[in-house]
Amino acid sequence: MSTLTIAMAADHAGFDLKELLKSELRLDGRDVLDLGTDSTESVDYPDYGHALAAEIRDGRAGRGIVVCGTGIGISIAANREPAVRAAVVHDVTSARLTRQHNDANVIALGSRLIGPEVAKECVKVFLETPFEGGRHGARVAKLGR
Ligand code: RB5
Repeated sequence: MSTLTIAMAADHAGFDLKELLKSELRLDGRDVLDLGTDSTESVDYPDYGHALAAEIRDGRAGRGIVVCGTGIGISIAANREPAVRAAVVHDVTSARLTRQHNDANVIALGSRLIGPEVAKECVKVFLETPFEGGRHGARVAKLGR
């Protein structure tokens, strides 16, 4: 069991996938901080992207998973916070490479673009793949915090 806290946030379009992923993570013994939304009632994705970014910035979560219809809007919102490196990921290779090369601390998933099994695999790889460091370390440092 990991002590890493994983923050999760989604808008109405991402709610169902967030719930599914949250259940899987908790079954695996992961510590999950759910920031909402709590239903499929329409909400604004920036509110949830910003909320998750604050958890990363303030150290209450080490990793984040955000979900909206495409993963794009909520990733843009989260990336406004310099402490966040959020990558939109819709395949396992991207999930692996964004950990190895970008040290991504947040992944963004598009519930309207991928199925639940791919999403689960992306999350697993995102959580288990270490940053490679080396030449990538200097590049990530140039991104800011
Ligand atoms: C909501 O309809 C949709 O615009 C949102 O979930 C997301 O895809 C935005 O980027």
